[in-house]
Amino acid sequence: MENGGSPSTNTSTNPEIKQVLFNAEEIQEAVKRIGAQISKDYQGEKVLLVTVLKGAFVFMADLVRCIEGDVEIDFMAVSSYGSETKSSGVVRIIKDLNAPVEGRHVVIVEDILDSGLTLKYLLKNIQAREPLSIEVATLLFKEGKQQTRIACKYIGLPCPDEFVVGYGLDYNERYRNLPYIGILEKSVYS
Ligand code: IMP
Ligand code: MG
Repeated sequence: MENGGSPSTNTSTNPEIKQVLFNAEEIQEAVKRIGAQISKDYQGEKVLLVTVLKGAFVFMADLVRCIEGDVEIDFMAVSSYGSETKSSGVVRIIKDLNAPVEGRHVVIVEDILDSGLTLKYLLKNIQAREPLSIEVATLLFKEGKQQTRIACKYIGLPCPDEFVVGYGLDYNERYRNLPYIGILEKSVYS
């Protein structure tokens, strides 16, 4: 295969991507690191990964394969964005978990922690179901953007204050399929 725009490079052939932030290898390194941490922290225990759809589906698929031991997965879908690029703080549950989490060790798997308003809502909501423990794993962390303090134990990669897409993250449902994470050209959404 020719190399043009291959996931191993830091360039994109997509003109709508201003800059590649993390290529596939860099993402996998971060995912492996989080997987190893979770494997170690829950050794001998069962852990339930709760994925926040849709953005975190790619991260979850890779993360679960980097965890050794007894792991189960469940999904929740929330909406806080519509087609905008700013969090509204209004979170709506579109799909709830299939099974109760009472008495279980839960790790919430998120794609990106931006304002933190989505996670604040989710943590409160899941906490009310009385899990044994609850932690957060986020692939990307937008520094200095949090409007609320979130205790996030597992953090993959730092993200600048830009709108990013790829590896599950979308703008208007597009770009989730990119194997890398890149900054979207402003002209696409302004
Ligand atoms: P928060 O409530 O502001 O923390 O936003 C959380 C959600 O907004 C994430 O789970 C993403 O779905 C979405 N989001 C925030 N920033 C970005 C971005 O840069 N690109 C794509 N989606 C984003
Ligand atoms: Mg999301």
